Amino acid sequence: MDFKAELKKYQIQIDQELKKYIRKHECPEKELNSSMEYSLMAGGKRLRPILVLATYKLFKEDYKICMPYAIAIEMVHNSSLIHDDLPGIDNDDFRHGKPTNHKKFNEATAILAGDGLLNNSYMVISQDLLNTKNEKELSKKIKILNEFSLATDRMLAGEYLDTEYEGKNIPFEELEYIHKNKTGAFLKLSARMGAILGDCTENELEKITSYSEKIGLAFQIKDDILSVEGNEKITGKPVGNDEEKRKCTYVSSYGLEKAKEILSKITKEAILELDTFGEKAEFLRGLAKYIEIRNK
Ligand code: IPE
Ligand code: IPE
Ligand code: MG
Ligand code: MG
Repeated sequence: MDFKAELKKYQIQIDQELKKYIRKHECPEKELNSSMEYSLMAGGKRLRPILVLATYKLFKEDYKICMPYAIAIEMVHNSSLIHDDLPGIDNDDFRHGKPTNHKKFNEATAILAGDGLLNNSYMVISQDLLNTKNEKELSKKIKILNEFSLATDRMLAGEYLDTEYEGKNIPFEELEYIHKNKTGAFLKLSARMGAILGDCTENELEKITSYSEKIGLAFQIKDDILSVEGNEKITGKPVGNDEEKRKCTYVSSYGLEKAKEILSKITKEAILELDTFGEKAEFLRGLAKYIEIRNK
């Protein structure tokens, strides 16, 4: 399997799907609409929606049914990025190689665009619920909606703690807890949504959950590493900003080399969780590896 080619294919599909949604959802307040669209289409990697689709594909082929959930997670993810960059949180000026939302527009618009994208994610899901007539399918999707809201709650909690701990000494367990919440919750949700929509067994869901918890933590450890030794031209966001704000990260707690060791260990463990799925899980194995070695 050519992992990079598959990843690209998925990214193109997600971008197309998001564009369709944006055309459908024109809010009359053009500037607010532009602000939401600006961040949503700024060039994100689309890893969360891809995880929804790729996990679904372990169980079933036609992943069209997943699209509203894939779109919704990408929306709430972008909502979290807009707010994360605000002066009151990380105060960052660049993302995806472009001015952050509040720099391009203004703070008030960015706050509302973030709220808008969060709310839009629920609009997409609730519309899909209205379109679902089959009782069994509907109850499965309501369960997913509940998980969606709980994961968002955890992301917000993680963001809260991340700012609260700036400049303080943090116990190791607390650092892991923050990472699992602020970043891990959405990766876990993405994989679980795909698995549940694909009618996996309980045992399969456990494996997928464990895989996604591990790649979720790995994802943020790698983000911490890139904040130290990444190339701004490639990451599109500031390097050195974690240190500047005295953020608690895996690098500040363990040092760069140890953080890399932990990342590599967790990635291997994540891949092992996929053993029961055999060849079908090749893309998900590639995704775990990609998270470890990515440069953006
Ligand atoms: C960045 O996530 C924020 C974190 C949770 C670390 P991504 O690196 O997935 O963001 P984009 O959407 O690809 O820019
Ligand atoms: C972002 O964490 C996590 C969320 C937005 C929920 P970071 O602040 O570490 O991520 P970047 O480096 O700004 O993308
Ligand atoms: Mg942050
Ligand atoms: Mg940030």
